[in-house]
Amino acid sequence: MNLNDIPYYDLGIDLDLTTLKKETKTILDKFETKDYSSRFFLARKKYKKAWSGVSLWGSNGELYSDLSEGDYVGENKPTMLESYAPYMFSVIEKIYGKSPKSRVRLMRIRPGKSLLWHSHVQEHGQDENELTIQIPINLPKGFKYCVVDKDEFSWYKRLYPPSWFKSAQCFELEEGRAYYFNSYHYHNVYNNSKEWRDTIMFYIDYNHKDIKKIFGNKNNISSHGNIGNNEEVLKLFREDR
Ligand SMILES: [Fe+2]
Repeated sequence: MNLNDIPYYDLGIDLDLTTLKKETKTILDKFETKDYSSRFFLARKKYKKAWSGVSLWGSNGELYSDLSEGDYVGENKPTMLESYAPYMFSVIEKIYGKSPKSRVRLMRIRPGKSLLWHSHVQEHGQDENELTIQIPINLPKGFKYCVVDKDEFSWYKRLYPPSWFKSAQCFELEEGRAYYFNSYHYHNVYNNSKEWRDTIMFYIDYNHKDIKKIFGNKNNISSHGNIGNNEEVLKLFREDR
């Protein structure tokens, strides 16, 4: 069993959703969010309309310098949002422990929008052990996270609806939970609602001991497999916890 074989995993951390929502509102009232600017031609227009955000941790502590693919510029530091969202920053500290931090962003998906199928590991140079974490804060009903097996994906399927893939798995997450969301295989999100989706998104290094602790030191997360069989894998995780 491999962590990369499951579409998502609840880290099992207790979070205060009311405070997360309150701090999100404060941030959105006081600061603007900026559109994501993809370096990829096909994604550029679609992402600009669908996706926007502001950084909690970012390049040189800046609010808007990490709204595209690629590496940090300068030093990764907390931004001025720290004084407006102390609880969010405490949650970030708690999850990272002493492991190195990545960019941490509050990311919004506009009502009625989706992204393109993409994989951070297959396409964007993300290491296999670098895991994507999502903490949904405002999650409209019907908002779907979807994952497709990398072996079923081809470039010309980038705009396919999930139902056109045999291995597609779509699921709804819960507000105020912290999740590992699979970015090894291809994934997309669909906001079929009239409300915005707001989430905190960042990356962790699975090899760090403080991070491994969150996953319960599962020694059996080691070999590759097929994400198509993940219902069984998920059950194993749940029984284990
Ligand atoms: Fe992604």
